[in-house]
Amino acid sequence: MTAPRPIRLTVNGVSYEAAVEPRTTLVDFLRQDLGLTGTHVGCEQGACGACTILLNGQAVRSCLMLAVQADGAEVMTVEGLGGRDGALHPLQQAFMEEHGLQCGFCTPGFLMSAYELLQQHPQPSDDEIKEALGGNLCRCTGYMAIMKSVRVAATKLRAASPAAAGTVEK
Ligand code: FES
Ligand code: FES
Repeated sequence: MTAPRPIRLTVNGVSYEAAVEPRTTLVDFLRQDLGLTGTHVGCEQGACGACTILLNGQAVRSCLMLAVQADGAEVMTVEGLGGRDGALHPLQQAFMEEHGLQCGFCTPGFLMSAYELLQQHPQPSDDEIKEALGGNLCRCTGYMAIMKSVRVAATKLRAASPAAAGTVEK
């Protein structure tokens, strides 16, 4: 066994210091060490997108990264999307209203990919939505409802805060 290495990172605005084995993946660290089980593990080989999180604002697959590689980073998981009062983020609200999920296994990954998209493109075209979600797989919902959910969320966010689409009040 290799000696644990110290890491420091911020997850959903909270600072953490931990000692992790160098082989620990970021998704395992988030789920097992921090108890943030909203990030799901599907294929564990970068194919399904269920483990998508934001690392320094960029959507990444946390099953393909080691926790030590996130040393010094700012991480956002699906738990960081909603308000502190438990209010759903407009993306979560839209997925619920537009039937963008069934079993929900893939949903955290879709939400984080869509969040990154709406940060960069508050009014995305269908092609931009497809491109952004192209690495996320869903076995049950079908992609039309997911696409519609993202469109509806974009409209909600623009209506709520034209200057800061993509954010939710904390
Ligand atoms: S679990 Fe990471 S891409 Fe599938
Ligand atoms: S809602 Fe079941 S896999 Fe997507």
